[in-house]
Amino acid sequence: MKKTAWAPVNLALIKYWGKTDDKLRLPANSSFSINLSNLFTITTVEFSSVYKRDYVIIDGEKKEKAIERVRQHLDLIRKLSGKNFFAKVVSQNNFPQGTGIASSASGFAALTLAATKALNLNLSEKELSIIARLGSGSAGRSIPDGFVEWKKTDKSDDSFSYSFFSQDYWPQLRVATLILETKEKKVSSTEGHRLAPTSPFFSQRIGLIDEKIKQLKESIKKRNFQQFGTIIEQEALEMHAVILTSTPPIFYWSAKTVELIKEIWQWRELELVKIYFTLDAGPNLHLFYLTKDEKKVIRKLQKLIKDTDKIIISKVSRGAHLINNHLS
Ligand code: PMV
Repeated sequence: MKKTAWAPVNLALIKYWGKTDDKLRLPANSSFSINLSNLFTITTVEFSSVYKRDYVIIDGEKKEKAIERVRQHLDLIRKLSGKNFFAKVVSQNNFPQGTGIASSASGFAALTLAATKALNLNLSEKELSIIARLGSGSAGRSIPDGFVEWKKTDKSDDSFSYSFFSQDYWPQLRVATLILETKEKKVSSTEGHRLAPTSPFFSQRIGLIDEKIKQLKESIKKRNFQQFGTIIEQEALEMHAVILTSTPPIFYWSAKTVELIKEIWQWRELELVKIYFTLDAGPNLHLFYLTKDEKKVIRKLQKLIKDTDKIIISKVSRGAHLINNHLS
């Protein structure tokens, strides 16, 4: 009754910001993401009658806050299977703690797949995505492969993500994730989602999302990098406009974030290199470029970020899947 799953971090191109149901984690708007090949979680789950309680080890440590959420998620899966064994969960992120990269999406996707398989539940991708979403909203998007859509709906049983294009659809696309800050952010995304409707721009943003997703899909279909980049940058800034104008306001950027954004705009203006950015609820930037520009991009970034460990390059990847190498 032991299984191990691999799941990627997913990066939203059209962001989920605001919920219609906190507990069920139903989003106020549809979103669209890609899975990142080089940022991931591996989780081993073993259920056994030998265990007298759940044991949870994340990145080699017992983390009390995270452990409670993992336990609740295991309870949900135990209830579904009708089996009542305790579990040992060992989970490892390939990115160091405190990088500001959220591990909850990849973490809950890997946990969902490993735990359901370990209990012999044979669930569809849709069902796995729904269960992962109940653990952490955007985790549902780390289950399917490649480019992924999560449509807004008011029913929990319909709120799942699915693959829109496979991971191989646009092989030239790359993402450089820049770790600009390592401090934990002051306002969690859970709190940010809750405050979103207090922004005067929130409803306007929601009204624009479906058209934006349509245009984004068209740009990917045609592999039109300029159109793709323009949409994702504008979208990230729109989400931050809502974040900045919530009551109380939230400001996730650092001075380095602003410096880099200005550089990127200048590189494009001077036609030095085509890079487009997006960023989530934090200061770190994710930069998109095409493989033909990779050398130039790395050279330019290394001038600004001396520590090369802080530049993580990914392709678009598969979603969650089982692997044979157990962590314990
Ligand atoms: O799943 P959460 O609660 O961590 O929210 C994710 C929020 C953003 O990363 C900012 C956007 C997104 O769609 O992933």
